[in-house]
Amino acid sequence: MDNENIFNAVNAVEYYVGSARQWSFYHQQALGFDLLAYAGPETGVRDRVSYLLGQGDVRLIFTSYLNYDSPIADHVRYHGDGVRDISLRVENIGDTVDFVKKRGVARISPVSRITGRDGTVDAARIYSFGETVHTLVEEDSYKSGLPPGFEEIGASGKHVGLKKIDHTVGNVEDRMMDSWVNYYVNGLGFDQLISFDDKDISTEYSSLRSKVVHYGNRKIIFPINEPALGLKKSQIQEYLDYYNSPGVQHIAIETDNILKTVAEMQSRGVEFLSTPSAYYDTLLDRVGKIDEKLEDLRRLNILVDRDDDGYLLQIFTRPVGDRPTFFYEIIQRKGATSFGKGNFRELFKSIEAEQAKRGNL
Ligand code: FE2
Repeated sequence: MDNENIFNAVNAVEYYVGSARQWSFYHQQALGFDLLAYAGPETGVRDRVSYLLGQGDVRLIFTSYLNYDSPIADHVRYHGDGVRDISLRVENIGDTVDFVKKRGVARISPVSRITGRDGTVDAARIYSFGETVHTLVEEDSYKSGLPPGFEEIGASGKHVGLKKIDHTVGNVEDRMMDSWVNYYVNGLGFDQLISFDDKDISTEYSSLRSKVVHYGNRKIIFPINEPALGLKKSQIQEYLDYYNSPGVQHIAIETDNILKTVAEMQSRGVEFLSTPSAYYDTLLDRVGKIDEKLEDLRRLNILVDRDDDGYLLQIFTRPVGDRPTFFYEIIQRKGATSFGKGNFRELFKSIEAEQAKRGNL
């Protein structure tokens, strides 16, 4: 089996949270997701509740515990609400396990057979940074399209135009970025995309280093950040301190009309980072001609960056849970294949203003 046909896509992202019902409600109401399915005591699952949500190709699962001695409870107490599993769809589970074992990945669970009402499926699990895992799920493995234990609900949300996951970003400890890049490249057959060092992404205070790995011509994209030393505490270090370990920092979701998507999300109460007004005074000098009106971008706080292939529009939410850890990015690509490096400096000023309010700068 060749290297390009092991992993197909991000299957779903599962969060371990204090209240799956509330996280599900927020994503339905504020982000317009459909509630697709539910698992819990009513469906024969005794130790947890899970809600499966979808919009476009994005699939999110919110899971919480029912008993104090659940490992999910430990996860939430330690990390707060956050991403546990970036599940990957694979062509063939046995071939995938052989592939990564041959490449020296030792931390992989044995293939286990899960039985649900719709039949059986083989699954395995790869361990990533911190307590983050990749559950491997075979394409078309469930007849109903639902994981075992889930029952269909099918409550439609009022969509905001979210299409697919563009990238999911991990924060790891200082000097650990390269070893995680090596893990994905050498162990899992990913390629490294681009790199920029901390001179590129720093402000007066805090900085970071970032490298990007991707699989199969950008079917799956994982940027990995580590903190770099600045005058004051890096935003990556703040994340690590509150999450208590490496973990998923943000998920970028693609839209094909960011003006509409963001206006709709704002009207429903989603909080985004603000952008200094001065950013827009010189924006067109930096990025050249764009289709969108400057006043719309300024009103909605949307950022723009250009690379050799085109430009992109992006915006970041404030942290979604209580701890300053996980957030979302909304992104629209107009040719650009990069990640908004030109915005990092402007964006960091805004992140650091929030960090200072929390007394962590
Ligand atoms: Fe991003």
